[in-house]
Amino acid sequence: MILVTGGAGFIGANFVLDWLARQDEPVVNLDKLTYAGNLETLASVKDDPRHIFVHGDIGDGALVDRLLAEHRPRAVVNFAAESHVDRSIHGPGDFIQTNVLGTFHLLESVRGYWAGLEGDAKSAFRFLHVSTDEVYGTLKPTDPAFTEENRYEPNSPYSASKAASDHLVRAWHHTYGLPVLTTNCSNNYGPFHFPEKLIPLMIVNALAGKPLPVYGDGMQVRDWLYVKDHCSAIRRVLEAGHLGETYNVGGWNEKPNIEIVRTICALLDELRPRDDGRPYADQITYVTDRPGHDRRYAIDARKLERELGWTPAETFDSGIRKTVEWYLANGEWVRNVQSGAYREWVSKQYEGKA
Ligand code: NAD
Ligand code: DAU
Repeated sequence: MILVTGGAGFIGANFVLDWLARQDEPVVNLDKLTYAGNLETLASVKDDPRHIFVHGDIGDGALVDRLLAEHRPRAVVNFAAESHVDRSIHGPGDFIQTNVLGTFHLLESVRGYWAGLEGDAKSAFRFLHVSTDEVYGTLKPTDPAFTEENRYEPNSPYSASKAASDHLVRAWHHTYGLPVLTTNCSNNYGPFHFPEKLIPLMIVNALAGKPLPVYGDGMQVRDWLYVKDHCSAIRRVLEAGHLGETYNVGGWNEKPNIEIVRTICALLDELRPRDDGRPYADQITYVTDRPGHDRRYAIDARKLERELGWTPAETFDSGIRKTVEWYLANGEWVRNVQSGAYREWVSKQYEGKA
């Protein structure tokens, strides 16, 4: 079996659902259930004996030691993190706690477990750390896309905490020989994405008749990958990645934010027209920029393609249409995540920003 951390969040839950749909190997899913973790996302595997959910913190060494000893996984895939840049600006403490210290404690537990393995179990064991392209900093318009050789130049508390965790993972390999793999992925989108992030926020605000808050001039560029393609890349790296290596994951889909927002508006105009016949783009509102906002990210994913034969299955056009359709069909999931805590965040982040 494998141990997944953060498997009630956006990417982790998509990974767990896809994993169980493809094979019989069980998953132990350790998640702290912060505001971003949601068991409703995992409702379809609630009674599946191959899915063992454990509520807890990656930083709880005693708990993780016990889980490792009891379930004896052949791999650990670490998704658990605080993931939202804007939240890291308002309050970096949780990001240091989970992304840096939590990863440290998890590495120590895994190192102890791995040291006690023998023979094939020891040589086959893997620790896969899920990281981000944001650790490389920001690009100018004509710079080439990030490769695995780019320097780490994180600019936000979030990306600095992820960079720190990547360095710990690297050091645990170099110093202790822990068999690690690291993936650095670009922006994901797709089903079960918490509506604090650009794409789901724009969809749910549009449908609710609310403003669509575009930061600054809306010309910041992100490189978008459908979440299920990220999951397939992780499965491939887990299966065939070279120990100690890092792999960039991306879909060659660079787009300015305003184009993303306009695309969502156009899809909604087609699929769920406004009652008054006006276009959703009327709701676009430019608001104060994010402090320290990185201008452009772009991922060069050729190493992963060349060495492990991975390519994404979705184009941006097919992925964004599926995503908008998913949100239209899953209003109840959206309503349930828009709890009191969600409303508190939205007023903290957006009130008085226009
Ligand atoms: P998310 O915020 O949706 O989910 C994070 C999950 O981790 C939640 O279920 C949360 O409850 C859990 N968690 C938080 N702290 C924990 C702790 N201390 N112990 C156990 N569980 C804890 O995040 P996501 O978007 O699914 O991102 C998953 C991972 O992928 C993160 O490491 C993130 O840095 C990375 N990543 C995200 C993107 C993206 O576009 N979303 C892109 C590249 C990399
Ligand atoms: O690049 C990978 C990263 O992508 C991940 O590591 C992070 O976990 C993930 O949150 C994401 O970070 P971003 O900051 O790029 O994503 P976000 O959805 O918050 O914002 C995308 C872009 O849209 C960014 O340029 C800021 C802008 N934006 C965002 C929001 C929430 C707006 O213009 N308005 C908004 O309301």
